[in-house]
Amino acid sequence: MEDRAHRLDAEDPGHRDLFHVPPAESGDHPETAYLAGNSLGLQPRAVRHELLEELDAWARLGVAGHLEADRPWLPYHELLREPAARLVGALPDETVMMNSLTVNLHLLMVSFYRPAGERALIVIEDTAFPSDSYAVRSQAAVHGLDPDRTVVRTDDPLATIREHGDRIALVMLGGVNYLTGELMDIPAITAAGRAAGAVVGWDLAHAVGNVPLRLHEWGVDFAAWCSYKYLNGGPGAVAGAFVHERHTGAGLPRFEGWWSTEPATRFEMAPVSRPPRSADAWQVSNPPILAMSPVRASLELFDAVGMTALRARSERLTAFLQSLLDPTGVEVVTPRDPAWRGCQLSLRVGDAGGLSKTLRHRYGVIADSREPDILRLAPVPLYSTYHDCWRAATAIAREEGA
Ligand SMILES: Cc1ncc(COP(=O)(O)O)c(C=O)c1O
Repeated sequence: MEDRAHRLDAEDPGHRDLFHVPPAESGDHPETAYLAGNSLGLQPRAVRHELLEELDAWARLGVAGHLEADRPWLPYHELLREPAARLVGALPDETVMMNSLTVNLHLLMVSFYRPAGERALIVIEDTAFPSDSYAVRSQAAVHGLDPDRTVVRTDDPLATIREHGDRIALVMLGGVNYLTGELMDIPAITAAGRAAGAVVGWDLAHAVGNVPLRLHEWGVDFAAWCSYKYLNGGPGAVAGAFVHERHTGAGLPRFEGWWSTEPATRFEMAPVSRPPRSADAWQVSNPPILAMSPVRASLELFDAVGMTALRARSERLTAFLQSLLDPTGVEVVTPRDPAWRGCQLSLRVGDAGGLSKTLRHRYGVIADSREPDILRLAPVPLYSTYHDCWRAATAIAREEGA
């Protein structure tokens, strides 16, 4: 089987050479089999040079860098807009890169969670990432509502929408579930939620750069995502937000700061903003250039390789990993059908935390665990190899196999 993995890598190589792969501290191979890009993506080699350019510009120019850096800082965030829009299937004006994920969810919920009388419920998935759960509960509380009565957790969003439709103000779900790796039916759930009169927003942390997205066409109201997982933007990287064009310029309430106003008016020092008719109106503060620079460099890779090619290789890698895991008898909780999953396979094991430590320290395989019993393996099509999958499956078979 190891030969087969090598053969497949020769026939179907990714772009590993564009990334720094951490060295293994143990095992038979110099590099780790890095299957944790669903948690923190690897560093693109291009990032260091690009970041140093901004540091040099700062050293050379000081404040003048806002206008005179090779990539002027004042409009810097606009460099990220179109590549990000392409990844999520949005119009450029519907997309902005800013802040971090949960902050963006809050800024968007300020506009999009408008409980009114009986229509106040917020629907999330029963395995929602805790940050999303805390965020929606705190939004309910800010409106003076009881979070326990307002937030509905479900494993079947369509059924919940059918049952409670006229009482739902907001449906907010993960596009790909962080725990199971399941890809949700974003178009169908969005359509059902909107038909019921609710607003539908998506947390795309595990979907962006992983599965093809068409947010504009699907009529999604709003979405947010992070850039440190599949987008390889670095720890805590600047996140993204999407607002459908039917809402930009529609006068929704927003939290504002000086970056919410038209760029041309920013230095008029006027007391009242003139927000643009675009997602930029949801910006508040001036963007962190040193944090945005790695994201810019990384997004270029997605444009160069293309999501179609990445998704195709992702399906082949994940199918290969599944074929190696099947004989071990270890339960894979992720859907078997590639149409309903991204590149992550989640395994139910006895002691997931213990197993992920053993994999790392004994085999140089980097996976991660979510309490109490889920081990997550994500062969990332940009840089993971068939041989990485073979190493992970072989180690798991040794440690857990029947
Ligand atoms: C699905 C999901 N939502 C939200 C978050 C929290 O993101 P942040 O800390 O960037 O706000 C994460 C982090 O991993 C996540 O996986």
